[in-house]
Amino acid sequence: MKINAYVVDAIGAPFVREDLTLAEPGPGEVLVRVVATGVCHTDLNTQGGDMPLPLPGVLGHEGSGVVEAVGEGVDNVAPGDHVIMGWPYCGTCRNCIRGQHRYCLNIGPELLAGVRLHGPDAGTSAYTRADGSSLSGHFFGQSSFATHSLTRANAVVKVDKDVDLALLGPLACGITTGAGAIFHTAQPGPGESVVIIGAGAVGLAAVMAARNTPAATIIAVDLQDNRLELAKELGATHTVNSRDTDMTEAVAEICGGPADYVVDCTGNIRVIEQAADMVGLLGTFILVGGAPAEARFSVDHMRTLFGKTIVGTLGGSSTSHELIPGLIRLYQAGRFPFDRLITLYDFDDIDRAIHDAHEGGTIKAVLRVSDI
Ligand SMILES: NC(=O)c1ccc[n+]([C@@H]2O[C@H](COP(=O)([O-])OP(=O)(O)OC[C@H]3O[C@@H](n4cnc5c(N)ncnc54)[C@H](O)[C@@H]3O)[C@@H](O)[C@H]2O)c1
Ligand SMILES: [Zn+2]
Ligand SMILES: [Zn+2]
Repeated sequence: MKINAYVVDAIGAPFVREDLTLAEPGPGEVLVRVVATGVCHTDLNTQGGDMPLPLPGVLGHEGSGVVEAVGEGVDNVAPGDHVIMGWPYCGTCRNCIRGQHRYCLNIGPELLAGVRLHGPDAGTSAYTRADGSSLSGHFFGQSSFATHSLTRANAVVKVDKDVDLALLGPLACGITTGAGAIFHTAQPGPGESVVIIGAGAVGLAAVMAARNTPAATIIAVDLQDNRLELAKELGATHTVNSRDTDMTEAVAEICGGPADYVVDCTGNIRVIEQAADMVGLLGTFILVGGAPAEARFSVDHMRTLFGKTIVGTLGGSSTSHELIPGLIRLYQAGRFPFDRLITLYDFDDIDRAIHDAHEGGTIKAVLRVSDI
């Protein structure tokens, strides 16, 4: 079928709208008419060459929409259903069988191979340009910067029609990543302290999640006062602007010593090395932010030896099927107002959306692709 999508031609090239042909859904696949798609920092990291998707390709991985058609053997959704397209996973490896879909042993190719990995057409892209050449799609199993996505049935999460579908795409990645880092990886106990560095969409979701735990001290760190003000409204007990304040000293003063959990949502290596020292004995340092390709960091050996945990987390851990409906229920209960992070843009306005997010005024840009 004919679709229209943003194509990135090469590393660093702009997003350009193009008419493409998308193959019909094969066995186990679902064709979704995209209603809206969030823009995640990881799309921009990929455009910039820090993620190895072969280009040209179609990006976008926070899509929500309406099922238009299903392939052979699909019985969990039907045409007309409202869905969020979650992260892909193979479903057969050891970690998938354990229910740890985010840590699917095939997660690299599932997210970034740019081609179908399953079914009779495995190894080829379902996306074709007008000149007949093939290009990468299937980014995070969806390539949602497009009017339509071809995704796998095991990755879609069906949602009630009384929740605004246009807001739900970011639950596929950014919002869920921040929330899951707190609910699944940190799991703070009564009275503990949590420091969240980087108050973007991911970090602010972590703040909202932390407010739903028994943690008593929730410190948000950022360089932008407007984001810190919002962090306070969403549940941070303290904020630190690290542009003019030393965050290590500020956190030690607020916590009366080292913090119990520090979550990096910046991906900045200098921040990461400093942050690792902000947790003490039996403390946990959690990596969430995406750093440039090949980046490395070093930590003090002795201070790590003393019972420190350093752990990375992908997509909030767990599964889309568990996390996404859980966060929607918290949202409906008024305890996870993630809609406050969202600014809607027309599909045409991707450059303005990225610019506004870069300037800091927009936290989570969502492109409105079609009507519900
Ligand atoms: N681990 C995962 O599965 C996963 C999933 C989604 C996103 N990510 C990554 O998480 C990160 C955050 O994503 P986002 O969408 O919230 O991005 P964002 O750009 O909206 O937020 C980043 C925030 O960090 C702040 N910041 C930058 N440098 C800082 C510094 N030196 N000190 C303090 N604050 C600083 C910025 O002001 C901004 O508010 C990105 O790197 C993204 O690629 C990871
Ligand atoms: Zn797997
Ligand atoms: Zn993402």
